[in-house]
Amino acid sequence: MELNPFFCICLLLIVTLAPASATELTSNATGWIWEGEAVSLYCSAQLTDARFIWRVDGDLLPGGDEYHIFEDPLGPNTTLTISPVSRNHMGSYTCFAYNSTLNETSNALNLSVAKPPSNPSIYCKSEAYTEQMLLGCSWVGGQPSADVKLSFNGTVKEGQDEVNWTVSLGYEVQQPELICQGDQVGKKSECKIVYERPLSSSHDNNAVTSVTEGENATLIVTLNTPNSLQPTFSWFHLNPDPVAITSGGKFKVESDNSQSSLLISNVAQSEKGTYECRARNIIGSTTFKLNLEVKSQESPGSSGLSGGAIAGIVIGVLAGVALVGVGGFFLVKKVF
Ligand SMILES: *[C@@H]1O[C@H](CO)[C@@H](O)[C@H](O)[C@H]1NC(C)=O
Ligand SMILES: *[C@@H]1O[C@H](CO)[C@@H](O)[C@H](O)[C@H]1NC(C)=O
Ligand SMILES: *[C@@H]1O[C@H](CO)[C@@H](O)[C@H](O)[C@H]1NC(C)=O
Repeated sequence: MELNPFFCICLLLIVTLAPASATELTSNATGWIWEGEAVSLYCSAQLTDARFIWRVDGDLLPGGDEYHIFEDPLGPNTTLTISPVSRNHMGSYTCFAYNSTLNETSNALNLSVAKPPSNPSIYCKSEAYTEQMLLGCSWVGGQPSADVKLSFNGTVKEGQDEVNWTVSLGYEVQQPELICQGDQVGKKSECKIVYERPLSSSHDNNAVTSVTEGENATLIVTLNTPNSLQPTFSWFHLNPDPVAITSGGKFKVESDNSQSSLLISNVAQSEKGTYECRARNIIGSTTFKLNLEVKSQESPGSSGLSGGAIAGIVIGVLAGVALVGVGGFFLVKKVF
């Protein structure tokens, strides 16, 4: 049997002219798109007088106001715009093109819709107790969930949405900062808390508190360390060596997270001088100085005169008044 060369050329032409995918589906979204945004899918076919049917996951599009279909009267193509897009619209989209003789299904396009976390930024949190410290990174509510990373003192903990860590306060902390990093489908957020030893910007180590003997004295240290970790306070009287003071008898120490006070009732001269308040947390400690001046009860004024001197002055003044009286008597006598 002889081979017809025209048959061969014809076969070759058919093979090379046939397009790889005649009906093509493209989108203006690359990767994830956010809920509430709009996305357009473009379908173009090579058929004359083509009609189109859109499908998601193999089914016809469900009804909904978010679907807007535009068929181009000039060419065999159609656009499906979904606006506003939501997580319900996720799926694999295809476009089916047909005319009276031919039909073809396009390539499939996956639509991935993300919902951002409830807060625009990741949140760093910490709570300090006497024995331990609760650290946390939170970026919840996102779909898909955000990847969350907590770093503190050289240790990294990872999770989704939220990561918490309880650190025992018995150990030394070398890198006292909490770093939280979040990543939701490529959108990143970071926060940081730097912890410090107890500090007070308002405290003056040279300030003097002045009371009169027998009165009550109050010495106060107020911390203003941002993110201060639960501090402990201890009080000393420099005599000149530090002597520890605890509550009891004339002394009363009251402390909370940001302040400590030393109340001395019925102050005696021996209690004057410099006091130290040492505030400590796991990061370190700071010593504050407080100076107490005790004035003597007998001389509330600042003249410094003794009782005997004051009595002398009173007698002198009285004598002067008497002399003026006598002089006045003689003047009156002279005139009349
Ligand atoms: C895609 O196109 C539509 C209509 O032109 C537009 O509204 C939308 O913002 C676009 N979406 C993206 C992700 O570019
Ligand atoms: C698509 O074309 C095939 C033949 O190529 C035919 O069997 C089928 O019924 C057609 N489908 C539709 C929905 O027109
Ligand atoms: C902080 O890191 C140092 C060095 O790795 C370690 O010795 C210490 O125990 C850690 N502290 C805490 C509270 O984990």
